[in-house]
Amino acid sequence: MKILVTGSSGRIGSIVAGQLRESGDWVRGFDLRPGSAPLDDFVQGDLATPAAIEAALDGIEAVAHLGALMSWHPRDEAAMFESNLRGTYNLARAAAARGIGRFVFASSGEVYPELDPQFLPIDETHPTRPTSAYGMTKLLGEEAVRSFGRRGLKFSILRFAHTQAASELLDPTSFFSGPRFYVNAKLRQLRGLPDSPNVAKSIAALEAVATADEQHYIGCDPSGAPYRMCMCDARDLARGVGLGLHHPAAEGETFNIGPPRSFAFDEAVPYLAGKTGLAVRRVNLFTASYRYETSIGKASRLLGYAPVFDFFGMVDDAAARR
Ligand SMILES: NC(=O)c1ccc[n+]([C@@H]2O[C@H](COP(=O)([O-])OP(=O)(O)OC[C@H]3O[C@@H](n4cnc5c(N)ncnc54)[C@H](O)[C@@H]3O)[C@@H](O)[C@H]2O)c1
Repeated sequence: MKILVTGSSGRIGSIVAGQLRESGDWVRGFDLRPGSAPLDDFVQGDLATPAAIEAALDGIEAVAHLGALMSWHPRDEAAMFESNLRGTYNLARAAAARGIGRFVFASSGEVYPELDPQFLPIDETHPTRPTSAYGMTKLLGEEAVRSFGRRGLKFSILRFAHTQAASELLDPTSFFSGPRFYVNAKLRQLRGLPDSPNVAKSIAALEAVATADEQHYIGCDPSGAPYRMCMCDARDLARGVGLGLHHPAAEGETFNIGPPRSFAFDEAVPYLAGKTGLAVRRVNLFTASYRYETSIGKASRLLGYAPVFDFFGMVDDAAARR
């Protein structure tokens, strides 16, 4: 099948493109910037520009739409709206007009209120109430895709869990894992946020344990309860995208795609420290705390989605490849 992967230079899109090619698909990438993914063809362009999208869709049979801006900083909200909502509208509209065979939309677990869920595990029946501007753009993107679905677009919506390459876990400078597991990286992130009493209290809590040498921290809520979350290996997620593109039961459906199980930070961080050799501190933070778990039961039942890596498997894999 001839597939367009948008966001093909990104951490997930590059792996999706590689896996699709390995399983015999022809892949054209589309991104703002060139990347290192193995591709059959590449169109450089902006999702906000309809002419670039027309060029990218020429001869294409299915689309994996992963191109998006991810940010939690207020200064990026307008740009996110352009890329994530206007871009999705432009692409879905053009794909519908061409009768594209399958349109997979990369949505996010952030369409749920992950910071304050009504029940656990969060499955696809959970109310969607995003609490971030990013989550809002993903939910509106879903609605744009469903709307074109009512006008003939064959779509599948995949709500990705938090996803990264396993190697990022060992890298204090990495975009996701740095601030999540490393003291000084978290301090740098918080100092870049707009001032608020909760940001100031969190900075103070981290400064109380910080040293020049990097350390890990076990993130806890203000009461001292350790965070819990779901983290998906990009290779597992890419297999989920492949199912969204190819599996007949994916059509018209919405699925959570994530790891086999969640993890608690008081178990996970000491395990990570066993590979990095860094000290571990326990820190109560006052910014967004999370204690959630997401169900992948629907994707497992209907699509045979079977992720391989949990958090501990990702750490083992990253350490073995270091
Ligand atoms: N990584 C996660 O934890 C996670 C979780 C949920 C959902 N998602 C979604 O999965 C998709 C891929 O995420 P990722 O982690 O690979 O992100 P990423 O930032 O690594 O990659 C996104 C890519 O999209 C491209 N892009 C952004 N705006 C564009 C535009 N206007 N036109 C063309 N290209 C554009 C970027 O250049 C980048 O290469 C995104 O849609 C994201 O919202 C990711």
